[in-house]
Amino acid sequence: MDKAFQYQIENKQRYLDELFDLLRIPSISADSAYANDIIKCANSISNNLKESGFENVEICKTQGNPVVYADKIISSDLPTVLIYGHYDVQPADPLNLWETDPFDPVIRKSNLHPEGAIYARGSADDKGQFFMHVKAIESLIKTNTLPCNVKLIIEGEEEIGSVNLGNFLKENLSKLSCDVILISDTHIFSNQVPTVTTGLRGLSYVEVEVEGPNRDLHSGLYGGAVPNPINVLSDMIASLIDKDGKITVKGFYDKVIEISPEDRAELNKIPFDEEEFKKSIGLKGTQGEKGYNSLERTSIRPILDVNGIWGGYTGEGAKTVIPSKAHAKISMRLVPDQNPEEITELFTKHFLFIAPESVKVKVTSHHGGNAYVLPSSDPGYKAAKLAMEKTFNKEVLPYRTGGSIPIVSLFEELLGAKSVLMGFGLDSDAIHSPNEHYGLFNFYKGIETIPYFLKFYTENLRSKK
Ligand code: BES
Ligand code: MN
Ligand code: MN
Repeated sequence: MDKAFQYQIENKQRYLDELFDLLRIPSISADSAYANDIIKCANSISNNLKESGFENVEICKTQGNPVVYADKIISSDLPTVLIYGHYDVQPADPLNLWETDPFDPVIRKSNLHPEGAIYARGSADDKGQFFMHVKAIESLIKTNTLPCNVKLIIEGEEEIGSVNLGNFLKENLSKLSCDVILISDTHIFSNQVPTVTTGLRGLSYVEVEVEGPNRDLHSGLYGGAVPNPINVLSDMIASLIDKDGKITVKGFYDKVIEISPEDRAELNKIPFDEEEFKKSIGLKGTQGEKGYNSLERTSIRPILDVNGIWGGYTGEGAKTVIPSKAHAKISMRLVPDQNPEEITELFTKHFLFIAPESVKVKVTSHHGGNAYVLPSSDPGYKAAKLAMEKTFNKEVLPYRTGGSIPIVSLFEELLGAKSVLMGFGLDSDAIHSPNEHYGLFNFYKGIETIPYFLKFYTENLRSKK
């Protein structure tokens, strides 16, 4: 594979230029105003894949945004690695907080990124990350050193819950058959402490509405005698978490699997520094479930958070009004074996139950997904660990993170294959936020590591046959 690494060095600048081209396309899936950019992005990826040496490149229609498929099959005797990524990105707003245009990538240096980082929406989540696979495999194909079969699917609806990908999988089971799935859409603990993600949280997402009076009221004429939906909603929300940081929704913890003491000790080998954590996000103190530290609270434990809340007058100046309605969006991050539909149901029941009789309450549910755990005995985990140890020259630790990639559990269910989460981002990359960025170190380290994963995975499977 030395030839491939030589090829990577020679093409370093072009790799970056091509990524910049992708980052210039505002492929925002949440906003239909960008529908053309979604198509443009899928086309652009497909062209790039053809030039990179992939075969059977296809833009597959779905009920929603297209999935880009490609493969390079060299022998039916060799294992097949399916790579997954997403080309859709989150909306860029609030735009005024970006230091540079979110869709005009630039490189800036910082203390964390002395070699520079690419600032653009999607740089880390996930264009910069899935593109590492495209370029790593290009270097292997062009130097005739690809060690196994590869298939690739890049979808365009991850940020809106991958609502049509399940059907796409069901309709293409044999086309997508594989031994393992490889995904770079997560982060490592730090550039000094490389990690392989072995757990993701699940998600259950609801929207609630509390309705009081049948119209907005003058808060002087009516205030004091009527239920104010914002006050009521605030009370209800406040009661959802108790003083020990436990969620009060009845039955919420019933299916939670406690992490084993061994896995817990292993997770805590990560040099998580509470002080640094606080400093990095400008906090004086942290809080959460009693009996767990911040690292655990954000990964192996479930939580409920209000993601948005509105109602009444929020414009300039003062308007004395009791609104008719108040709303909130609430996310629940889940752990194995909590079931998202079941949790939504439990939440709905509970929320209706705690509502005072004076108001009407509605709960609607949005997309969700299951949590996921990859055991460290899995051959995919081992290959990822070895590959990263080779390129980082450091011990690699397993890392459970709190984010969600709902499709991962569906992959297991439908394709019968485990997903290996070998992401190269940092938690400071500001994904979903203004000034999202992705380190050049991380981008190139990923491109260097992926060939080793393919090699070690293949060798391990072969030695077992
Ligand atoms: N790539 C992220 C998930 C992620 C990031 C997991 C970092 C672990 C570490 C993904 O694109 C994402 O944003 N997922 C959403 C869920 C989705 C249903 C919108 C999330 O976690 O909020
Ligand atoms: Mn992502
Ligand atoms: Mn995301």
